[in-house]
Amino acid sequence: MQPRKILITSALPYANGPIHIGHMVEYIQTDIWARFQRLRGNECHYVCADDTHGTPIMLRAQQEGITPEQLIARSSEEHQRDFAGFNVAFDNYYTTHSDENRHFAEFIYKAARDNGHIEKRTIRQAYDAQAKMFLPDRFIRGECPRCGAADQYGDNCEACGATYAPTDLKNAVSAISGTKPIEKETDHYFFKLGHFETFLREFLASGAVQKEIANKQMEWFESDQGLSDWDVSRDAPYWGFKIPDTDDKYFYVWLDAPIGYLASFKNLCERTGLDFDSYWKPDSTHEVYHFIGKDIAYFHTLFWPALLHGAGFRTPTAVLCHGFLTVNGAKMSKSRGTFIQAESYLKHLNPEWLRYYFASKLSNGVDDIDLNLEDFTARVNSDLVGKVVNIASRCAGFINKRFANQLAARLPDAALYQIFIDASERIAELYESRRYNQAMREIMALADKANQYVDEQKPWVLAKDPERLHEVQAVCTQGINMFRAIVSYLKPVLPSLAADTETFLKAGELTWDSVAKPLLTQEVNTFQALMTRIDPAMIAAMLEDNKQAMAAPAATPVASGALAADPISPTIEYDDFAKIDLRIAKIIKAEHVKGADKLVQLTLDLGGETRNVFAGIKSAYDPADLEGRLTVMVANLAPRKMRFGVSEGMVLAAGPGGKDLFILTPDEGAEPGMRVK
Ligand code: MSP
Ligand code: ZN
Repeated sequence: MQPRKILITSALPYANGPIHIGHMVEYIQTDIWARFQRLRGNECHYVCADDTHGTPIMLRAQQEGITPEQLIARSSEEHQRDFAGFNVAFDNYYTTHSDENRHFAEFIYKAARDNGHIEKRTIRQAYDAQAKMFLPDRFIRGECPRCGAADQYGDNCEACGATYAPTDLKNAVSAISGTKPIEKETDHYFFKLGHFETFLREFLASGAVQKEIANKQMEWFESDQGLSDWDVSRDAPYWGFKIPDTDDKYFYVWLDAPIGYLASFKNLCERTGLDFDSYWKPDSTHEVYHFIGKDIAYFHTLFWPALLHGAGFRTPTAVLCHGFLTVNGAKMSKSRGTFIQAESYLKHLNPEWLRYYFASKLSNGVDDIDLNLEDFTARVNSDLVGKVVNIASRCAGFINKRFANQLAARLPDAALYQIFIDASERIAELYESRRYNQAMREIMALADKANQYVDEQKPWVLAKDPERLHEVQAVCTQGINMFRAIVSYLKPVLPSLAADTETFLKAGELTWDSVAKPLLTQEVNTFQALMTRIDPAMIAAMLEDNKQAMAAPAATPVASGALAADPISPTIEYDDFAKIDLRIAKIIKAEHVKGADKLVQLTLDLGGETRNVFAGIKSAYDPADLEGRLTVMVANLAPRKMRFGVSEGMVLAAGPGGKDLFILTPDEGAEPGMRVK
């Protein structure tokens, strides 16, 4: 069979925020698929980019006192660092703020315009007369017209869930200047999506879009207005590309964002000599896949195919939607500390653990997937460490020590190994159809078989009997070959484990097809531990670190004090305040906490009563310097169970963090137990 030619994309992350583990569902899912295709011998190109335009990015840069170019350069670097950390191997990571993207955006727009699919209309829109700009819905705030909740967005209420037009908000103000918006007329350009109805009906019915998504989009056709026109323009000031033949109109960010797929691929083609047109001409037989989250299906299954079609490009072979990540059963939340940044994860945990966990949960549907941190620990420890790596560690030692690294000349149980070979196409089919969860189940069933074999053969017993020592080599060769097959099948998910296994086996790269031929009479390397267990303390430390990262202001705001980044909390009543019992406490012991990055364990004397408190102050204090000193603590805080033990109160700290964190109190005149007012 000819190798297939495949272009794969993941959605382009916004340049105004860090990568979090919710994003990683998508990039890991896509990377596994791309690696799988390469492992099968197909020609496959995986491209992505940062999504760099739009009002939020413009305002964010203003707030930080930097140019949008500086902001997007920083994001690009951070995003690529995080993706590399998770072993996501793009062939190209580009930016929508590029010449290629401007070229394709103008080309696609002009094609639509010249074919009569763009209409200019005058609309009335909210305008901030002080900031001199039109306001996107998200930048108008006011009281909800339904429930009266204060400080709600212009399009929906977070308190009661009502949706409405920004003009319905009571006492609306601009989130930019705080002044009352006025209404102003302006000309906008609309893409006539309705012109593409027949084409889109066919596209949605063609199998290019999952059923549940296609059905949902079909509802738009049946709604009263039919497919609505899409406003693709924005007024200056705007951070983006100017619309050709206008003075002050810009492409709405969602117009040029998907075009970034073309731009990134074009840039790759220019660097490597690949033929762009052979992928994008209308009758191309090469394959193009977009992996996206279900929240952006509307853009990718209606506007995007219509824009491509209107400009004479082929449309995607498929748009592949996934669901959203929840953590411990709930939406990721900053206040619950489950909004886990990629960077925090990578500081403490092995990326392959998450890759495996997501793989074990991902199907080809759009259901949400849950990262339950206890289940994550149990699953990884039991499957990867307890089952997979265990096979090798039980067999490799004997081959290394007793047989001078030599594998035996034949497999003692060829029929058993044949089961591993026979699983190949079944597992490949599961990867191909993105049913990774089922693929992982099949592979773990093989791992169970391999462990059962070693259990039954008991090489450690055979090794004690000089007569049967040669059998040990055969049994361990069988075990190592079964391990090799399993790692080959896991290679798209666990590229680092596979690379370490390749080093151990000294037989070149593992490929899908190499499983069919077992490794015999061959020398291997000394076995090194391939993966460690997850210690729950690592997760606790990661969460703690993440909390700090979330709390830290993203950058120092210009010309405004610390309060702008960290506004004062809602007012509390005096009675609430009076409930807090602050006491002077003497630090009688201060110790490092094993496995925790930030924590110091304090034993505090309250003048007759001692308390155990964990404090996140390791960055500022050496425990040895604390003993004998005084601090202020909240003495009546309910005890809280932490990973490392129960914390019975809190010490007060001030300062921006890091080295500058202060907890000590002058010793003079203070005594343990004394009330602080
Ligand atoms: N910039 C747009 C995409 C433009 S594509 C032409 C965007 N960016 S995003 O940063 O918000 O999201 C990038 C991708 O990550 C999207 O496909 C989105 O669905 C996905 N995810 C973001 N948060 C997610 C979860 N919590 N869970 C799973 N996927 C998530 O949208
Ligand atoms: Zn409301």
